[in-house]
Amino acid sequence: MLTSISHLGKIAFAKLAFSWDSDLDSIFEILSNRFDGFNNNGFYAHPDEIELRKELARVPTLAHLAEGIRGLNAHGVVLYDLGLAHLPEDRRNAALYAITLMLGYPTSTDQRTGRVAWDVRARPLEEIDGRFTTFSERIGSADMHTDSSFYPMPEEQFILYVVNAARCDGGHSLLVDGEDIYLALQKTEEGRKAFDLLSTTPVPFRVPAIYAAGDNNVEVNVALVFGPATRPGTRFTMRWRYDSIMKGLAARPDLGTPELHAALALMNDVAEHQAVRFKDQLPTDTLMLADNHNMLHGRTTYTDERRHLIRIRISDVPNAERVGPSGVVRD
Ligand SMILES: [Fe+2]
Repeated sequence: MLTSISHLGKIAFAKLAFSWDSDLDSIFEILSNRFDGFNNNGFYAHPDEIELRKELARVPTLAHLAEGIRGLNAHGVVLYDLGLAHLPEDRRNAALYAITLMLGYPTSTDQRTGRVAWDVRARPLEEIDGRFTTFSERIGSADMHTDSSFYPMPEEQFILYVVNAARCDGGHSLLVDGEDIYLALQKTEEGRKAFDLLSTTPVPFRVPAIYAAGDNNVEVNVALVFGPATRPGTRFTMRWRYDSIMKGLAARPDLGTPELHAALALMNDVAEHQAVRFKDQLPTDTLMLADNHNMLHGRTTYTDERRHLIRIRISDVPNAERVGPSGVVRD
């Protein structure tokens, strides 16, 4: 199933060595029977997702793939040659929805449309104008962050699938493991203090304008950068998005202290520069799975507007049990 397996810290790399054969047709048929339309091929969090998951688990290649991914027990997985490159959008996104439903419960990225499969590609500039936009809406770089950091229940995982790799020198995907952040912070006295402060002092994350009730409404969500661990073998649950925290502190200056600002600046430097990182330009037909509670991700600047990825966020708990605005963020 998975071959050429290699590791870089907590990231596992593998190639897929199987043929989907008729199983892609089986997946498509199952979803066609269950969904009332594919929501412009973005799908939605299915109301009977638990039953649907059981049904999909009977598709052999899908079950083996999920088992293979789980068996890697990694914080990041990069799978080359997934075998979906030839498919039209509906069949490709059906396969991605099915894969993510094997790994958890895909959430709706867009509150308005309910889309689960989110297109990560540049939007025309006139749609953006001065708003506090999210990374997936722009070309250019994305600072290291966790997804949904400004909501009560950030999803535990997400996938990115590369439809079209950037045909320019940039657009590298970046990953930094939480343990490497920790180790970098432990090297200095100020780093150790910063870690302790960010483990005990909640900080305000500002919600990007596109998701807030109105562009003039400022919403913040207060949370720890290093919260209690939930996954065995990990030290903490991480939330991080520097620009959102800076905007949160601008809106709620009462929550900031000189020590907190210094700790956040140091954490940003560690996340952007000091900690060891994976950096690669993922080729077309690659699937990347990341643990959104234990790994930061980002990307380098790119200029090729044809770069196109699909992103799906995955919750450990069914959508019906989630709290707060679920997965409505796009970055
Ligand atoms: Fe992101």
